[in-house]
Amino acid sequence: MRFRHHVFVCENRRPDDDPRGSCGAKGSETIRAALKEELARRGLKKVVRANVAGCLDACALGPTIVVYPEGVWYGHVRPEDVPEIVESHLVNGVPVERLRIFRE
Ligand code: FES
Repeated sequence: MRFRHHVFVCENRRPDDDPRGSCGAKGSETIRAALKEELARRGLKKVVRANVAGCLDACALGPTIVVYPEGVWYGHVRPEDVPEIVESHLVNGVPVERLRIFRE
């Protein structure tokens, strides 16, 4: 297996006056940058891939990310949440419950 996890970060950006809002307008680029930095810092770049995604259809809950293969969704993610997501979910396999959306 090439990667153990893919983390898709919505970077869709709509104009600031669009009533739907967008993850890009809420700073999702900095979330992916923080994720890449944390993965590199911890030597995880070969096992976890931080991918750009288009709209994930959860705009009101953004910035939105989804982790596969588990299909665990996180909403209202901030850059400062990234180390916890990496440590808890991607390293130890325990999703960060306080950020989860679309629970089964
Ligand atoms: S803009 Fe991010 S989910 Fe739609």
